Amino acid sequence: MTSEAGKTSQFEIVRREDFSDVTYLLEIRHPAMAKAAKPGQFVIVMEHEHGERIPLTLADFDPDRGTVTLVVQAVGKTTKEMQQRCRVGTSLHALVGPMGIPSRVGHARKVVCVGGGLGVAPVYPQARAHKEAGAYVIGVVGFRSRDLMFWEDEFRAVCDEFIVCTDDGSEGIKGVVTAGIEQAIAHHDDIDEVVAIGPPIMMKFCAETTRPHGVSTVVSLNPVMVDGTGMCGGCRVRVGDQVKFACVDGPDFDGHSVDFDDLMARLQRFRASEADALERWQESCRVRAEAEAQESVAAPLVDTRPAADR
Ligand code: FAD
Ligand code: FES
Ligand code: MG
Repeated sequence: MTSEAGKTSQFEIVRREDFSDVTYLLEIRHPAMAKAAKPGQFVIVMEHEHGERIPLTLADFDPDRGTVTLVVQAVGKTTKEMQQRCRVGTSLHALVGPMGIPSRVGHARKVVCVGGGLGVAPVYPQARAHKEAGAYVIGVVGFRSRDLMFWEDEFRAVCDEFIVCTDDGSEGIKGVVTAGIEQAIAHHDDIDEVVAIGPPIMMKFCAETTRPHGVSTVVSLNPVMVDGTGMCGGCRVRVGDQVKFACVDGPDFDGHSVDFDDLMARLQRFRASEADALERWQESCRVRAEAEAQESVAAPLVDTRPAADR
């Protein structure tokens, strides 16, 4: 069976939802992965044969439907190209996983699950798993403004308390997620663990917020990954006095021991070539669009009406 795009439909996209002009959800058919997946794990995706391999966290998985769900932020060449090409009925070229060590669940009685930016979706399966394991779950999510919010109902369904933070104050607390963590800590002196997922700078400040309170803090690290199997060394991170590979030793680590400055510096290393790749792809899109427009103008008009009607 082939998809509209002519590719095999092994990893067929069965649902797409656009949360904003930069954030989109893809639900993909993969029954074996849907059965095996655990919260905290990720996949490596190739949208097309010549595409880049990129890691994305499993935002959801449903063994009954035989699907896994990814929520993607279009930030550069590959994620923007996927945003343009991934439609319901088309297929991904490759989808490998689940990868990484699943998040620890079941040990904590009271947990704060924090998601900011592209971390909101990946923290959802963790909140749900902690709830299913019997924990009291406090969800804290951060967005720039109310109109960028998504999955509010999903979070409310698995959280005992739900705290929204927006940069502009259009919903909930005006401020970033650390304000939500402070509020949770002020109301509960028995929090066992904070789980924080989002951009490195956010996770760094979440860890600094919990450190003085001595609350254990788990972060999910997002260094550049290539093979996802511990072979290439791309995802090397410093945790305490140890060097770890996030793809096989993580992606979850103790937030109080992670060297976030090293992680952020390593993430900058390919900025010039990433910007170059985006520029070349945007230029090729522009040239193709122009050629298509010229072709449609140049195409001879064929009168398809029966001769008697002309
Ligand atoms: P580029 O312009 O190539 O890169 C933009 C920025 O993305 C870079 O500066 C760098 O910080 C990061 N990046 C680039 N290439 C990689 C790479 N191969 N591996 C990791 N980071 C890279 N994003 C989501 O939107 N949703 C998710 O659920 C998600 N989960 C992730 C889970 C893990 C374990 C990791 C490591 C990353 C995750 N990311 C997620 C980040 C995502 O992989 C990058 O945004 C994506 O690779 C950017 O590709 P690009 O070509 O569009 O942008
Ligand atoms: Fe290559 Fe982790 S991605 S070692
Ligand atoms: Mg890229």
